[in-house]
Amino acid sequence: MQNYGKSRLAKPVSKRLLDSMVPTVNRILSVLLLCLILCACKQSVLEPVPDWAYPTNPAPPPGQKAPAPPQGTFQIPTSKLSFTRPELSNLFAAPDWHPASHPAMPVVVSHGRLPEVRACGYCHLPTGNGRPENARLAGLPVAYFVDQMKALRDGSRKSSVEGRAPTINMTKTAVAINDEEILAAAKYFASLPPESYVRVVETVMVPKSKIAGWLFKFDAKAGEEPLGQRILEGPEDFDQFELRDPGTKYIAYAPQGSIALGKKLAETWGDNKELECSSCHGPGLKGKENVPSIAGRAPTSIMRQLYDFKSGARRGAKSSEMDKVVKYMTNSDMLALSAYVATLKP
Ligand code: HEC
Ligand code: HEC
Repeated sequence: MQNYGKSRLAKPVSKRLLDSMVPTVNRILSVLLLCLILCACKQSVLEPVPDWAYPTNPAPPPGQKAPAPPQGTFQIPTSKLSFTRPELSNLFAAPDWHPASHPAMPVVVSHGRLPEVRACGYCHLPTGNGRPENARLAGLPVAYFVDQMKALRDGSRKSSVEGRAPTINMTKTAVAINDEEILAAAKYFASLPPESYVRVVETVMVPKSKIAGWLFKFDAKAGEEPLGQRILEGPEDFDQFELRDPGTKYIAYAPQGSIALGKKLAETWGDNKELECSSCHGPGLKGKENVPSIAGRAPTSIMRQLYDFKSGARRGAKSSEMDKVVKYMTNSDMLALSAYVATLKP
């Protein structure tokens, strides 16, 4: 039987052409597949808001008013002063437990200006070290500070979660404040040393908590629950926090391994490490020229900023620098970076 050659010849030319193309097509398909895999790894998609970084106080049930504030005066062990609860809730006079521990506050910092400029020192504390629900202002460069006030004023800097009272109060303040007041506040806070009050603890289980004071209030007696992929941050002593004691310490529970992962990401971010955090935020991330220090900040406040840059809620004169950084950042990258950066010495 010599029909081998015959059958070969019998194959239509088009079919033979197709056969010869099979390896090429395969090659093209493999390249496409590789592209798809690479694209899937590196996407600039925005994941859902990480709720744990934006804890929101529950509204009192309808028809029920908030409980009356406790009466009498309050003290803290490290101060001879005392304040009443209304004094501790007055957004136009910052409770100052240790007046000798910082330079004299400009009026805008200690009292603000009625009706809308709230006292900066009330939320950010007279020491400028702030609390996790707002931001640390101590040591911020004056030019950066002024830029942020302008961005908050003109609405280009917002929160990804609309309607949270801390940001709304800040925004109303920025809208009403004048340029001299901004400069006085900026110079005051720039002169203060940044400090860290947070302890990052890696764990699997966390004490149960509820949301109060825009943070997590842990209840050691209520049992435990799995932490999952979250950072839960709250005061170690809730009563001390409510008294606005600037010495209040915070605990931030973070998933196991997040600090080491965050360190690795911080040091290698970008295709050729060109976006590693220290290239702009300076050695130890303590700030460089007009780029703010982020070392030792409250991790949930870092997380909100990273997510707000990514979602586009936070814009400003220099925000395009951070837009490059967060473009391909996932929520879990942000979580690890926040946990790590919070452990650094300011
Ligand atoms: C009611 C509490 C509150 C008061 C009062 C307040 N702030 Fe703020 N401030 C915030 C919060 C919350 C943020 C974080 C906003 C955000 O990112 O969503 C913030 C952020 C800032 C920032 C940006 C810091 C950074 O590095 O991102 C600056 C600057 C600032 N405040 C300045 C001031 C000044 C100046 C005053 C007084 C005139 C003031 N704040 C009064 C709550 C407050
Ligand atoms: C190319 C320079 C550059 C790099 C790289 C960079 N940053 Fe930034 N970062 C900035 C600038 C500039 C700002 C201030 C943006 C503005 O004015 O709105 C900023 C702001 C921030 C803020 C907000 C601080 C505040 O006070 O609210 C955080 C958090 C932050 N960066 C984290 C990081 C982390 C984490 C990395 C590394 C993964 C990083 N940055 C890498 C330039 C950079």
